Amino acid sequence: MGKSKKYGMNTKALHANKRFEPISGDVMPPLHLSTTYINDVPGESEYFYGRINNPTRELFERTLAYLEGIENYEEQHAFAMASGMSAVSLIAELAKPGDNVVITKDVYGGTTNYFSKIIRERNVEVNFCDFEDIEKLDSLLNEKTKLAWIESPSNPSMNLYDLQKVSEVVHNYPTLLVADGTFSTPFITRPFEHGVDIIMHSTTKYIGGHSDTLGGAVVCKDPELHETLMLYQRQGGAIMSPFDSYLVQRGLYSLGPRIKLHSENAHQLAEYLEKSEHIKEVRYPGLKNFQNHEIAEKQMDYFGGMLSFYLNENIDQEKFWQSLELYKLAVSLGGVETLIELPYLMTHDNAQETEASAPIDLIRVSTGLENIEDLIEDMDTALNEAKK
Ligand SMILES: Cc1ncc(COP(=O)(O)O)c(C=O)c1O
Repeated sequence: MGKSKKYGMNTKALHANKRFEPISGDVMPPLHLSTTYINDVPGESEYFYGRINNPTRELFERTLAYLEGIENYEEQHAFAMASGMSAVSLIAELAKPGDNVVITKDVYGGTTNYFSKIIRERNVEVNFCDFEDIEKLDSLLNEKTKLAWIESPSNPSMNLYDLQKVSEVVHNYPTLLVADGTFSTPFITRPFEHGVDIIMHSTTKYIGGHSDTLGGAVVCKDPELHETLMLYQRQGGAIMSPFDSYLVQRGLYSLGPRIKLHSENAHQLAEYLEKSEHIKEVRYPGLKNFQNHEIAEKQMDYFGGMLSFYLNENIDQEKFWQSLELYKLAVSLGGVETLIELPYLMTHDNAQETEASAPIDLIRVSTGLENIEDLIEDMDTALNEAKK
């Protein structure tokens, strides 16, 4: 600041040392917190205002679109949102009064609740159906169906749907097929390769990966639709904060290796549970006996870190929760630590009264990155201690 002498202390505090070129040879991009940007002349600047664009958010939005297979990801980037639910609501804005939407029965409780309570109030018909029943799905689709919504694997029952098959039926109508990719991430399934039109993520889960950031993201294939969703993102305003964008971008760097280890651990845990006399049924796409294993082989690069199971009647459930040491009884998923929960009373409690309620006694595990021997031993001890 050559002219610093004529500036007062407050001005100096604001204007000294504001250098934007990398000054230290940073290997990693910095976190940009500024909410506004300097114009060269009025109305001319690459960045304009923090809600519209932000370099930290944009880096994440471009990287995610690239991973999902968007070729011109610099222009047709993803939309980073404040939460997974704001990503859901961004897409739901596409359904106008008089339209209808069809949703797989087995989806995240918040999504069920949002569509059945809020979207229905907007004079949009909302139908839930099991997308495995292609005939039933077909009977619900018509010229007014704006969205067909799928989770594969589904939360919490781990149902898998053949995306290609579903997309063929859905695309007989002017309907957009939406896939919630939260459980899988692009390191497991890239839904655009299977005919999906819009992908959404709760980045709170695997993409963030450490249970310390809330966020969501939307990626779409069609350039015109991209323009519409960009308007909704920018003017709706539920954007992801710069700090969350920084964290989820950091999450993307290690997402591949984490998914690999989450999947290896979940697979071994599922095999242990499958053999246990205390378990009625295990639901994990990687198990050869799993009803949808063939679909998993076709559209998943890894089988993922999520699984669910039913205890046998000889297990005291309350004692079981208390006996676990490494499995933390908590909602959410996709973090480095193992979490366990009862969806009916926890993640899906607000869907209890709807058509898409979770099974009352299904237990869900988000397998973390602990040593698998420790996770299996902890489970084994808890099951034995909880024996009636
Ligand atoms: C599959 C799925 N989709 C969407 C959401 C909503 O995401 P968020 O909690 O980040 O709003 C969740 C949250 O658990 C989820 O599991």
